[in-house]
Order: sequence, then structure tokens, then C-alpha cells
Amino acid sequence: MANLDVKVDADLCSGCAVCESTAPDVFKMNDDSIAEVLPEGLAQAEKDLVVEAAESCPSEAITVVDKDTGKQIVPA
Ligand code: F3S
Repeated sequence: MANLDVKVDADLCSGCAVCESTAPDVFKMNDDSIAEVLPEGLAQAEKDLVVEAAESCPSEAITVVDKDTGKQIVPA
């Protein structure tokens, strides 16, 4: 399980949905075609999968911070 703070910048998100395809339990497209983070899915998710999904975003719209260390993982 991952103790991560994950945010999607709605201004940067282009709605390509790669994040949702990669980690559908963590990211969900809303009615405006912007990705949203599902807190319950995030709490259960593997860290590596969340990081992979965030890194796959072509718009660098997803920020991932490790809450244990306070270190930003994505963007690196
Ligand atoms: Fe948006 Fe990036 Fe996901 S553009 S839909 S946050 S992969």
C-alpha cells in the first residue's frame, strides 16, 4: 500500500486517459474528461503502479508526493 499524495492539475490534463488505463482503481475520468483521484483506490494501490501511471501522463499533469518522506516522486 502506498502512502502517497496524488494530485491532477486540471489545467494541464488533456483528458488522454492513460492514467485511468494504467491504474483504473486510482484514476477516473470525470464528466469534463479530466482525471480525478479516487482516495479509496489510492489507499489500496501499489506505489509502483501509481508512479507508473503518473509518469505515463504526456501532459505531466499528475504530481505524486511520498507522504512518509515528503519527497516529490513525479515529476522527478
Ligand atoms: Fe489527464 Fe494525464 Fe491522465 S492528461 S487523463 S492526467 S494521463
